Amino acid sequence: MNRPTLKTPFCERVGIEYPIISAGMGPVAGTGDPVATGDLCAAVSNAGGLGMIGGVAYSPDQLRAEIRKVRSLTDKPFGVDLLLASTFLWERPTGPMPTGPVVAGEPKEERFPAEYRAGVGQIAADLGITVEKAPQEEGTMGSWVPQGKSWAGCQMEVLLEEKVPVFASGLGSPAPFAEALKANGTTILSLVGNVRGARRVAQGGADYVVAQGTEAGGHTGKIGTLALLPQVMDAVAPLPVIAAGGIASGRALAGVLAMGADAAWCGTPFLVSNEANQPDLQKQRIIDASAEDTEVTRLYSGKTMRNITNPFILAWERSGLQALPMGQQAALIRDLEYSIKKAGRKDLLMNAAGQTSGMLTQQRPAAEILTEMVDEAADVLARRNPDRIQVSV
Ligand SMILES: Cc1cc2nc3c(=O)[nH]c(=O)nc-3n(C[C@H](O)[C@H](O)[C@H](O)COP(=O)(O)O)c2cc1C
Repeated sequence: MNRPTLKTPFCERVGIEYPIISAGMGPVAGTGDPVATGDLCAAVSNAGGLGMIGGVAYSPDQLRAEIRKVRSLTDKPFGVDLLLASTFLWERPTGPMPTGPVVAGEPKEERFPAEYRAGVGQIAADLGITVEKAPQEEGTMGSWVPQGKSWAGCQMEVLLEEKVPVFASGLGSPAPFAEALKANGTTILSLVGNVRGARRVAQGGADYVVAQGTEAGGHTGKIGTLALLPQVMDAVAPLPVIAAGGIASGRALAGVLAMGADAAWCGTPFLVSNEANQPDLQKQRIIDASAEDTEVTRLYSGKTMRNITNPFILAWERSGLQALPMGQQAALIRDLEYSIKKAGRKDLLMNAAGQTSGMLTQQRPAAEILTEMVDEAADVLARRNPDRIQVSV
């Protein structure tokens, strides 16, 4: 079959064939490992889209290795996604190191209010989990951040040295790094879930604003893609906009391109790809899920995150506890999450995924997922719509 043509100015700018970007998905799938590793990234780039590494959890050395791995697997453009929320910009203080394990922004356990400790204890009891202390391993959660530097700052040094073609900020403004990235020739994408955020990242130096609707898996806002996309486009014009959230078919891709998006940023459809780095069990839960089987919760990170529903999420929501800020919330539930894994209670594991879970029916290669979306979008735009919709201007 001929390869269809489906090109936008974004494709020209970054040098790719098709306007599909695989989301830079980090470690929010219950295993602690990034989902979008070099393998998924390279597979998408090789298929003509733009692959992204979900870089947030990598130490600088791991990130460099992953970037070099992608370069060994493809000569096509690719990108790296990092989170620039304040937790990741927090500079570890200089001076004598505090004793014990240190996590950026994380309070010691005894600093949690008593109601939180009691609430988490009750949730554990309801779930039938005996809570054990998680080992405080060095090497986890940014213990590699040296004094006087930030988590994201250390990662960014690698991106600059490696001259990564595309950078995406998943949370936060690219402002602290925009000048250096641009001087390096890197194209900057910034994800937002509302118009205020869109204006902020546009002022902060984003080359493309990625408007991510609430349908999305992972961290997500309140506004649907169909409502958000035109409002973001109006707010940041003439800056180009990329659509995200709920795009897992050629029909949806055609729709957002018709609305004026320059590309689609897709996470959930690639979660069930062979190359996505998460256990088959979690891919299968997505495949088995209906569109109604996801829930937005602050349980895992303190920020609203869409996941396949599970009893842990439901118990947290029932508890009435307000989530703590990012960093602290994860610390609050760390021992319980550790104990859940140790008890083998896979039904309670985090499984971030979006509402398009309801339309995903099989695990297959990322290239096949991308090609099917491209073929269908091209067919919709070039054939089905002209056949079906009468229009004149
Ligand atoms: C498992 C998972 C992990 C994610 N991790 C990140 C991340 O580390 N950084 C980021 O910018 N976005 C992350 N996201 C959000 C995606 O980048 C993307 O915006 C979203 O998946 C798009 O919507 P969709 O899921 O409907 O395709 C994640 C999403 C999922 C499902």
